[in-house]
Amino acid sequence: MPVAEGQYQQTAPAIDAPVRIEELVKSFGRHRVLRGISLAFPRGKTTVVLGPSGCGKSVMLKHLIGLLRPDKGRVFYETERVDMLSERRLGPIRRQFGFLFQHGALFDSMSVADNIAFALREQEGGRPYDEETRVRYVLRLVGLENVYRRNPSELSGGQQKRVALARAVVLRPKVVLYDEPTTGLDPIRADVINELILKFKQQLDVTSIVVTHDLASAFKVADHMVMLHEGRVVLEGTPEEFRNSADPVVRRFLRGEASEEELRAIRSVGSEDIDFRGSQ
Ligand SMILES: Nc1ncnc2c1ncn2[C@@H]1O[C@H](COP(=O)(O)OP(=O)(O)OP(=O)(O)O)[C@@H](O)[C@H]1O
Ligand SMILES: [Mg+2]
Repeated sequence: MPVAEGQYQQTAPAIDAPVRIEELVKSFGRHRVLRGISLAFPRGKTTVVLGPSGCGKSVMLKHLIGLLRPDKGRVFYETERVDMLSERRLGPIRRQFGFLFQHGALFDSMSVADNIAFALREQEGGRPYDEETRVRYVLRLVGLENVYRRNPSELSGGQQKRVALARAVVLRPKVVLYDEPTTGLDPIRADVINELILKFKQQLDVTSIVVTHDLASAFKVADHMVMLHEGRVVLEGTPEEFRNSADPVVRRFLRGEASEEELRAIRSVGSEDIDFRGSQ
């Protein structure tokens, strides 16, 4: 059937995926960050997005909820073109997402309960009906009901992350975006967060997208994995396909090795240029 001008003919996605991006291109000034990324995030599953620092993982996540607009390409939530929506019409879409920001801090001037209830009041016009029940429920989910009245500054980093997770799911999102959820935590606290990601998937039936450098976390929570490198998708597949990949970029990332080129660049900057001892 011919498509009217200006209309976008949507091809049926090969898998059931509430969140999809197609041919996403994004630059900041002359810096081309995303160079044509197409991905589908399967419903009810956890997709882990891996990639070196600065490759555009957070930028990609922000496009999913319209915090950034692409230069080219399309972003879908269900049947909606997210990249085409006005700020006002983005509201109901964002309401379907829980977002754990990479640098998302809690407000120190409010109690833990108010930090979480804040999201409820913003979205639901201040109806206090079951506010306390909802806040207690999500705090119980993350194992921290006892900090209800505390101030965030009294909590450890790991506890603060768990409160931020509780806040991310209090609106019963359909999709949860986690940007580096375990960064800065010791391996045991990190594993608590992994367990919560698994638990939210099961108990809240959400589609999850986890951006991380933490390979232990990645392999623990992933049903599906994606690796970005230099603005492109280098591999998309099951954790097993990742482990067995022969792609040199993937293998180096999994082994935590810099490329020869990167090592050469660092080694070639010699200390002979500068005398660190100063002139005494
Ligand atoms: N608002 C912005 N304005 C200008 N440049 C930006 C902006 N946001 C991101 N960038 C640039 O885009 C690139 C990708 O940033 P991004 O935050 O997505 O990296 P990342 O893959 O999430 O890295 P990390 O793993 O360190 O969090 C970086 O070079 C960054 O400086
Ligand atoms: Mg980031």
